[in-house]
Amino acid sequence: MPQLEAAAKRATDSATEMVQVVLPNDANPLGFILGGTVMHLIDIAGAIACHRHTRTRLVTAAVDDLQFLHPIKVGDLIILKSRVTCVFTTSLEVQVDVFSEETLTGRRRRTSRAFLTFVAIDSDGSRVQVPPLLVETEEDRRVCEEALARREQRLGRRIMADG
Ligand SMILES: CC(C)(COP(=O)(O)OP(=O)(O)OC[C@H]1O[C@@H](n2cnc3c(N)ncnc32)[C@H](O)[C@@H]1OP(=O)(O)O)[C@@H](O)C(=O)NCCC(=O)NCCS
Repeated sequence: MPQLEAAAKRATDSATEMVQVVLPNDANPLGFILGGTVMHLIDIAGAIACHRHTRTRLVTAAVDDLQFLHPIKVGDLIILKSRVTCVFTTSLEVQVDVFSEETLTGRRRRTSRAFLTFVAIDSDGSRVQVPPLLVETEEDRRVCEEALARREQRLGRRIMADG
């Protein structure tokens, strides 16, 4: 596997926030954003944070189970915040939190939380090592430990899915 001499980075170096207005074209007949549109935006927000961390090409390897806790209606803002939680060898996990914000009141609610795994590849499609993540605070450590536990479960599910 090709080795990268990349410097370690903090999660804050790659953390990303995306904001957009929910337009009628994004919505179902009830006037709420489509789940598939939210999933697309989650993939993009996660990928941007991972690109900023790795500066490599990436593929999405997994999206953990996803729940839609509240609808987001046309005219609201949809806000996606992504943050790398832990890096492994050629893969890394990113957390994406999704919020709705009412434009007139500013009321904000978290509507989803997703964990995605991306794998770093080069131009030939070979996997490459990802730069280390600087883990400096107790919070960083807790977030990474939780990610390691999720990775173990996820890789177990992968074996089942590939069976
Ligand atoms: C993801 C992919 C590159 C893994 O390839 P592979 O040859 O099976 O890779 P390996 O088993 O050697 O694993 C490589 C890394 O990916 C991780 N990985 C592979 N499948 C995974 C999964 N389902 N969930 C989480 N991590 C996964 C491994 O843990 C490993 O990480 P590490 O190096 O940090 O330990 C390959 O399955 C693929 O190309 N999938 C399609 C990706 C794609 O097209 N995504 C777009 C949406 S369909």
